[in-house]
Amino acid sequence: MSALSELCQDILTCQRCQVLAENRTKVVPGQGAENADIMFIGEAPGWHEDQQGQPFVGPAGMFLNELISSIGLKREDVYITNVVKCRPPQNRDPLPTEIHACRQWLDRQIELIKPRMIVTLGRYSMAMFFPGKSISKIHGTAYKKDNVIYFAMYHPAAALHQQSLRQVVMADMLKIPPLLAEAAPVSDLKPEVKQLNMFEGQSHE
Ligand code: URA
Repeated sequence: MSALSELCQDILTCQRCQVLAENRTKVVPGQGAENADIMFIGEAPGWHEDQQGQPFVGPAGMFLNELISSIGLKREDVYITNVVKCRPPQNRDPLPTEIHACRQWLDRQIELIKPRMIVTLGRYSMAMFFPGKSISKIHGTAYKKDNVIYFAMYHPAAALHQQSLRQVVMADMLKIPPLLAEAAPVSDLKPEVKQLNMFEGQSHE
């Protein structure tokens, strides 16, 4: 069994948050390629995810699938997970104590997968990697630290509730391939790609 599968097994039996452990149907550790270049991090499982034990399988997940295919990829090519691995009762916001308790699982997933790019979906995940920033200001922008690109997006569910965000989310998604190409070793790049400079700031930290 791979180290990531072992980690996911450990996550399945987590009892760190009593309320979440008592109320969940299934834990939702994450899903996708163990060597994914891109890791999408959402907020917490909703009703559908709690039933199935997989991330982003409800309406927001259907939109995320569309977004992923808009850049020529499939769900199996990326890794999808959440800040909190259990559904908060009534889909309430995750509590700071729950986010803190779950953080070590996410950190270990990142260590094992070693993604080249972390895409935050929504404000809870953004807050971890872009502390103090506002999603309306930084969505669609990236910074690079220790060879990892951090890229902030609105949560796909936000676009389902607010139609005007749909185009914004779709346009932000299309920035991902050039950002990855730009970060690739120069020898791997086509000449026209080398001209691109998609990073809009040095660092958001
Ligand atoms: N919303 C999230 O943030 N994560 C999911 O897995 C599903 C919906």
